[in-house]
Amino acid sequence: MKQINRIIIGLAIGTGWTVVALAQGQKDWQAPDIGKLPDDKYGQMVRQGKALMEQTYKHIGPEVKDASKRFSGNNLACVSCHMDAGSRKFGNPWVGTFVSFPQYRGREDAVSTTEERINGCMERSMNGRKLPLESAEMKAMLSYLHFLSTGIPVGAKLEGGGTLKLKPLARAADPVAGKQVYATTCAACHGENGQGMRRGKVGDADGYQFPPVWGADSYNNGAGMARVTLAAGFIKGNMPSGITHTTAVLTDEQAFDVAAYVNSQPRPVKLNLDADFPARKNKPVDAAFAPYTPGFSPEQHKYGPWKAISEAREKGIYPAK
Ligand code: HEC
Ligand code: HEC
Repeated sequence: MKQINRIIIGLAIGTGWTVVALAQGQKDWQAPDIGKLPDDKYGQMVRQGKALMEQTYKHIGPEVKDASKRFSGNNLACVSCHMDAGSRKFGNPWVGTFVSFPQYRGREDAVSTTEERINGCMERSMNGRKLPLESAEMKAMLSYLHFLSTGIPVGAKLEGGGTLKLKPLARAADPVAGKQVYATTCAACHGENGQGMRRGKVGDADGYQFPPVWGADSYNNGAGMARVTLAAGFIKGNMPSGITHTTAVLTDEQAFDVAAYVNSQPRPVKLNLDADFPARKNKPVDAAFAPYTPGFSPEQHKYGPWKAISEAREKGIYPAK
């Protein structure tokens, strides 16, 4: 550990920012400062990538003038879910992402690249289509991700990756109770009807001040956020907007219930989801689409309780091929 610490501190000095090895073997980190990048070709690409991810709707959204650039199917931004432009712990950060690919992915049962992972969010979270690998947009996004991993060694275990992993409730998450939480804690920004608040008008490609959380302009049912456990962890650590995982205001129960409510509402449907997780043992117990674990209803997969499903999986009972 001492030696690892020394290597990491050496790296930190070398790159001008701090990485600290924590007791659990997970490293603390801060995103590097984009302001310090020179205005050369690389710096320009990194800044372009950041702009694309912050204002995705303006560059590749469904309302942009050039129809050939309409890759995203909704008017969200990548940073609608990747908080602080991918630099917030438990806010789906991108710090360390670039150096964690190529990576084995359970959804595909194959080793995927960073580009393929970006396109995973394009087809699901953005309810759109793949960006071509050679496109300027893909290169710009990759450049920003590359920059965010400055000084992070391949294989590093970073603190605060993804979203909070909440302990599953012993009961099913309750969309009816969640509706109350939504009304008091979320509707002020995301709207009673979940449609959010546009910055301007429909058709202006200017996106949202408060993004929609369901309906035609939201993420589709194949997105990570469509899983109740994942949405609950995201919401607990990041919502209502202004909090972080250290200042969370919702209880775990409220987070599960409101996640259940949001994900009980209509949203775009992704076709061929039965092709996801071809190795069925990899399928998350809360993936709420067919094929299901034998003996458990679609509702139980969606809202829990998940313990019995997990136990069945441990006994080798998996969804059918
Ligand atoms: C609706 C929310 C949402 C939006 C919008 C979204 N993502 Fe994601 N993204 C997620 C979630 C949740 C995960 C991680 C969980 C998972 O594996 O499904 C993720 C994971 C990723 C990862 C992998 C990170 C890692 O370290 O493993 C990348 C890269 C990524 N997204 C890029 C993008 C890009 C680029 C965009 C915009 C084009 C985007 N995402 C838009 C929710 C979103
Ligand atoms: C003060 C305004 C505000 C409140 C209140 C709020 N949000 Fe958000 N929410 C945002 C903003 C803004 C974003 C986009 C990310 C960002 O910029 O912080 C967002 C993003 C999201 C997202 C991911 C993007 C999407 O559109 O799907 C979800 C899910 C979400 N909020 C759910 C909730 C839930 C559930 C609550 C109540 C517990 C809530 N929010 C309360 C402002 C708010």
